[in-house]
Amino acid sequence: MTESQVLVSYRVENGIATFTLNNAPVNALSLAVRTQLQENLEQAVNDASVTAIVITSALPMFSAGADISEFSDAPQSPMLPDVLNAIEQAPKPVVAVLPGPAFGGGLELALACHYRISVADNKVGLPEVNLGILPGAGGTQRLPRLASAVTALEMIVTGKPRPVLELKGVFDKLADNQQHLADIVSDYIGTLSASDVRPTCENSLSMDQQTQAVFEQYQTGVEKKMKGFFAPAQCIEAVKAAFTLPFAQGLKREQELFMACMDTPQARAQQHFFFAERAASHVSDFDKTTETRAIKSVAVIGAGTMGGGIAMNFANAGIPVTLVEREQSALDKGLSVIRKNYESSMRKGRISEGDVEQRMAMLSPATDMSAINDADLVIEAVFEKLEVKQAVFEQMDAVCKRGAILATNTSTLDINQIAAVTSRPSDVIGLHFFSPANVMKLLEVVKTSDTSADVIKSCMQMAKRIKKVPVLVGVCFGFVGNRMLEPYAREANRLLLEGATPERIDRVITDFGMPMGPFTMGDMAGLDIGYFVRQSRQQAIAHDPSYAVVSDRLVEQGRVGLKAGKGVYLYEEGSRVPIPDPAVLDIAREEAQRLGIAQREDISDEEILVRCLYTLINEGAQILEEGIADKPSDIDVIYVYGYGFPVYRGGPMHYADEIGPATLLERLEHYQKACGEYGSMWLTASDLVKKLAAENKTFGAYQKEQSHA
Ligand code: 3HC
Ligand code: NAI
Repeated sequence: MTESQVLVSYRVENGIATFTLNNAPVNALSLAVRTQLQENLEQAVNDASVTAIVITSALPMFSAGADISEFSDAPQSPMLPDVLNAIEQAPKPVVAVLPGPAFGGGLELALACHYRISVADNKVGLPEVNLGILPGAGGTQRLPRLASAVTALEMIVTGKPRPVLELKGVFDKLADNQQHLADIVSDYIGTLSASDVRPTCENSLSMDQQTQAVFEQYQTGVEKKMKGFFAPAQCIEAVKAAFTLPFAQGLKREQELFMACMDTPQARAQQHFFFAERAASHVSDFDKTTETRAIKSVAVIGAGTMGGGIAMNFANAGIPVTLVEREQSALDKGLSVIRKNYESSMRKGRISEGDVEQRMAMLSPATDMSAINDADLVIEAVFEKLEVKQAVFEQMDAVCKRGAILATNTSTLDINQIAAVTSRPSDVIGLHFFSPANVMKLLEVVKTSDTSADVIKSCMQMAKRIKKVPVLVGVCFGFVGNRMLEPYAREANRLLLEGATPERIDRVITDFGMPMGPFTMGDMAGLDIGYFVRQSRQQAIAHDPSYAVVSDRLVEQGRVGLKAGKGVYLYEEGSRVPIPDPAVLDIAREEAQRLGIAQREDISDEEILVRCLYTLINEGAQILEEGIADKPSDIDVIYVYGYGFPVYRGGPMHYADEIGPATLLERLEHYQKACGEYGSMWLTASDLVKKLAAENKTFGAYQKEQSHA
């Protein structure tokens, strides 16, 4: 932006001064915008010919709020709260005119105006809590003065946007469409005079018993549903101030709480994650000029656990899907699981009965591969065996039309080897959905050495249509997410052998913020999955006879996890609650003795965290070195969306930056030494970790450097 660039234009017509925001793409309220808003306000107030002021937008969006990219720098005047207070105190009526959404500071700007007019088909919100902060420009004080305590708390604590139609107290007028909005503005504003100044801050509030109960309800809800997050409770405190303090003091309290949030690792993590999520779409494999292939119809081969879920994503988005199985019975079973899933959503009120039928009607079952000949995208989701997949790809190659994208949902196999059996390897790509595929938002888009740029771009765009978060990765065993999980699970298993109990290891990991520990997760996924993977990975692990040996013994005893009612833990019929089993500790003791491993009582929580989590981060660094992931923030997106890594820690690579590369290296090296021969086998820090520690550079700084290289 050059200094002379006009981001808030100023125009006076018939005594009405109009300030039009035009800071593409989303009218973020950057320093330049705040400065121009303030200058425009002074000009309009001082111009005796101006009787009223309109603040509106030249873009489809009113404003997405404060400029988040400025949060990492020292704040600069004019500050948003001051600009908004000046607007509210203006001696002439100020009207916010919303042609589209207003979020965060954008909505706070509208709330500071004396009147608000919007198109009826619009949404507004205060999503600051998702950035680890709270509305800090008067939103927590002004919204409750215009809407109820419940509405204000709901919007501020959850951050969810609301249709303006549900906010009748906040909006003075709603227009049917943009033309109607323009008509309303011209009819309405001309009728306003100086006596119509109506500052929101003058609405008084008080705390009665009923309101007190609402606050208590939200407090309990936050403790239960938002465990580990700092900002939600601060949001409640700030809204409470609106009911217990005069406006000016309430604003002061809001500022204190805002700063307390801003100054936390959580806020840094959540703001990092906001940009990480968006950066995942910015890859160098394609650009604006890369053509895309239209995806109007899809085929899924295999209607098992994954195939069914994958098909549902497309049916939900209104894209017709041909679902192929070898046998009619398997097809019927797959379809009935899909129907059950939809009916369950209907019972929970998420979709209507009509939706169920409409979505089922998007599915065309088939047992003959010729049914896929016209599909634009074919996704294979058959058994995880290279020969089986190669045979299916040969058939796909034979029947699919030219230009179709041929995808595999493999979780471990070499996609280059799958592509090699076709006559069109550049059309082959991996689409690694996570289970349950209709629920999990992550999609690892796996490019081979031959996948063409237009196929990659088409798949990244398609993912957004089906509401997934796509992250582009390269081919290696387990790709990014599952490969990083390997050292995490390995260390958890080894710590069990060394004498730590599964429940203690799980507790350390859940205290960190993961939704479940490695043993609960293993039992849930099925211990047999890891067992079979280990069988096929003997070359990589056979040199360590202790590798997941307790888990192997359990699987050999039929203790394959939750589905068998017993794995590392025991489960009562119909329950998912893990019950510790001393028999597992006996197995660990026996195996440790057999392998000559001394069990220890001095394993600390810190050791558990470092050996499970820092090794996972270390693998992430290795993956970056190999170019399998494009950038550290992509790994963070994969872990938050695919593995429930707490967003308030920003993802594993951002977390590494918070602890610092030197500490990461020092702790890894400490345990490498402490673990002797085992340590030298598995706990060596990657070259990238060593390099960053030596240069005292974070993964964030490394990412910036790489993007400029
Ligand atoms: N500040 C800076 N950049 C922003 C931004 C913001 N508030 N909102 C969006 N952007 C950027 C994005 O990073 C992206 O940049 P890129 O193209 O370089 O990746 C670009 O604008 C477009 O954004 P999206 O890709 O997200 O576009 P969508 O159309 O999918 O979504 C949106 C638009 C719903 C507005 C979404 O961007 C969003 O949720 N933005 C953040 C809204 C928010 O959290 N506001 C509160 C800010 S904090 C605040 O106001 C504090 C105040 O209380 C004091
Ligand atoms: P599954 O066993 O539930 O389903 C596989 C289906 O493919 C079966 O219904 C089978 O009848 C069908 N099938 C086999 N050969 C076929 C052929 N030639 N033509 C048509 N249908 C055929 O397996 P699941 O779990 O759905 O896994 C499928 C793929 O997804 C595997 O590659 C797996 O690695 C991958 N994956 C699995 C995840 C999971 O958590 N289950 C997660 C991510 C990927």
